[in-house]
Amino acid sequence: MTVLVTGATGHTGRHVVSDLVDAGVRVRVLVRDTAKAPEGVDVVRGDITDLGEAAEGVDAVYLLWPFFDPKGIEAAVEPLKGKKVVYLSAMSAEHGGVWGDVENAVRKVTDDWTFLRVTGLATNALGWAEQIRNGVVRGPYGQAKRSLVHERDVADMAVKALTSDHARQTNLVTGPEAITQAEQVRLIGVALGTPAVWEEQPIAEAKTELSRQMGAEFAASALGYWASLVEEPEPVSLDVVRVTGHPARAFEDWAREHFS
Ligand SMILES: NC(=O)c1ccc[n+]([C@@H]2O[C@H](COP(=O)([O-])OP(=O)(O)OC[C@H]3O[C@@H](n4cnc5c(N)ncnc54)[C@H](OP(=O)(O)O)[C@@H]3O)[C@@H](O)[C@H]2O)c1
Repeated sequence: MTVLVTGATGHTGRHVVSDLVDAGVRVRVLVRDTAKAPEGVDVVRGDITDLGEAAEGVDAVYLLWPFFDPKGIEAAVEPLKGKKVVYLSAMSAEHGGVWGDVENAVRKVTDDWTFLRVTGLATNALGWAEQIRNGVVRGPYGQAKRSLVHERDVADMAVKALTSDHARQTNLVTGPEAITQAEQVRLIGVALGTPAVWEEQPIAEAKTELSRQMGAEFAASALGYWASLVEEPEPVSLDVVRVTGHPARAFEDWAREHFS
């Protein structure tokens, strides 16, 4: 079989590519910059909104949609008709939003879909790198408890779904426990050998900053979600161990791998 990997230069995609290659699967990647393409795979240069050439002749696709807006998704997935599609989604897809819209568009073009709904990726914490080196991370809702996911667990799930009979499955992909954002910062500080603490940022200031990055609507919904996680932590799912046979990787280990 041949598998097309989108987002192949990204955090999850790069592991999907190398794990598939190790498993002896033929891989094609879609990249915007061929200089960044992994070695030993078939390379197609292009944009994710135009999958026609990249999808030609492939059996399966690892799909992500790297936008906060679903505009253009229906046309983008049209070339995936009838193929196996494993989409990196989000837990919030159950309430619609961009991830829900992408799932619906995928369902319309194929019956062989898997949705990997993650709570949040641990790689989000890389955005704190500079602040952590200075010892203080400012952000809203330090007591929000998140079950962040190691990107390798997403890749393991994806490879399993891409290479076996896994049609019409929605998996909830989480870390092994929910820990506060303040604790995440502390653990990264431990990994670095430099104490790091959380400093609560006023919500209005956070809203302005986030709106600049992801748009006002998305920022408002993210803030509301984090606020809810102070009282009710993100869930912990057993889907990683059920599908891959190994437990989900701990945030502490992720921090050591990325910050020491
Ligand atoms: N962060 C979270 O907590 C969270 C939660 C739920 C779901 N997700 C999903 O996870 C996705 C990110 O996955 P990731 O961490 O593996 O990726 P990532 O590290 O964020 O990298 C994004 C990838 O997408 C590629 N890309 C971006 N725009 C593109 C375009 N217009 N055409 C073609 N390729 C494009 C990038 O290629 P270049 O090298 O060319 O930039 C890169 O390979 C998000 O888009 C989101 O939908 C994230």
